[in-house]
Amino acid sequence: MAILVTGGAGYIGSHTVAELLARNEEVVIVDNLQQGHREALLGGKLYEGDIRDGAFMDTVFQENEIEAVIHFAAHSLVGESMQNPAKYYHNNVYGTLCLLEKMTAYNVKKIVFSSTAATYGEPEHVPILETDRTLPTNAYGETKLAMEKMMRWFDTAHQIKFVSLRYFNAAGAHESGRIGEDHAPESHLIPIILQVALGQRPHISVFGDDYATPDGTCVRDYIHVTDLSDAHILAVEKLRKGGDSSIYNLGNGTGFSVKEVIEIARKVTGHPIPAVMEARRAGDPATLVASSERTKAELGWKPRHAHLEQIMETAWNWHQTHPNGYSL
Ligand code: UFG
Repeated sequence: MAILVTGGAGYIGSHTVAELLARNEEVVIVDNLQQGHREALLGGKLYEGDIRDGAFMDTVFQENEIEAVIHFAAHSLVGESMQNPAKYYHNNVYGTLCLLEKMTAYNVKKIVFSSTAATYGEPEHVPILETDRTLPTNAYGETKLAMEKMMRWFDTAHQIKFVSLRYFNAAGAHESGRIGEDHAPESHLIPIILQVALGQRPHISVFGDDYATPDGTCVRDYIHVTDLSDAHILAVEKLRKGGDSSIYNLGNGTGFSVKEVIEIARKVTGHPIPAVMEARRAGDPATLVASSERTKAELGWKPRHAHLEQIMETAWNWHQTHPNGYSL
């Protein structure tokens, strides 16, 4: 039986496919390749198409015996979601509805879901617990919360069990150096900083230094991408053992400000990385730091690259060897 990975050619999806293959799992990938890269797949069977295309998804479910789904396919940019919420509701919420309808029709009862810290909004306290209030400050987080809630009702009605993994800030690249982060256009902090170190940009723009944080810049909890992949596989295992639907945070529990991230990148790359202060970006909460204690206790998850310097080194290795990402 196979695991279907939607969005499997994307950044986190491709790292999870690599880890599944390393564990000898049979992997089927669905990706419309809007953001994903064919070259990011180190194996598995790719179906190029969209989860909202019913006839296409029928083919996927009919040609393979799908045991469980790991659902990454979604748009995921906070800033963009504030400019174009319809794009997020359509691909994320409607796309998930289409997927859950197919899972119902084909009797697939397990789903691991790529959720986000953006579901919480501005936290009441840090570190954030899974039981904390969810009040998103951006449309992206709102759509992910809607997708989680949808899964709950499909569980109630159709016994589709879900594990929702709320990641904090994914970063870094695979240890093999073969796959890494490549978004076009790039909007994430660490790859942009490393593009400055590669001489591809003149400076890093810091979006706001008047937040209620120690140095005024936003604080985030960075987590290595293969530590995220490990958690998805542990979540599949939990569902295989008959585990109930649940929600888990994935972070390292330590916050780094934008200024601190830049400083670590200077140390790792040896480049001065000029920084320019700019206005706030819409939708950004000041601080997002996870408590992942429940994840560790219930899934047995243990991060392998918990330090930001280590995470940065794997990202720097990827960016140096792939200065144009997957394009030559
Ligand atoms: N930032 C800058 N300059 C840049 C890019 C980013 O100052 O050029 C700042 C942002 O304003 C933010 C921080 O760096 O304060 C991190 O920004 P990213 O865009 O790298 O990441 P986000 O925190 O916005 O979002 C990421 C994922 C989301 C996820 C979220 C959870 O993209 O999918 O982490 O914390 F929901």
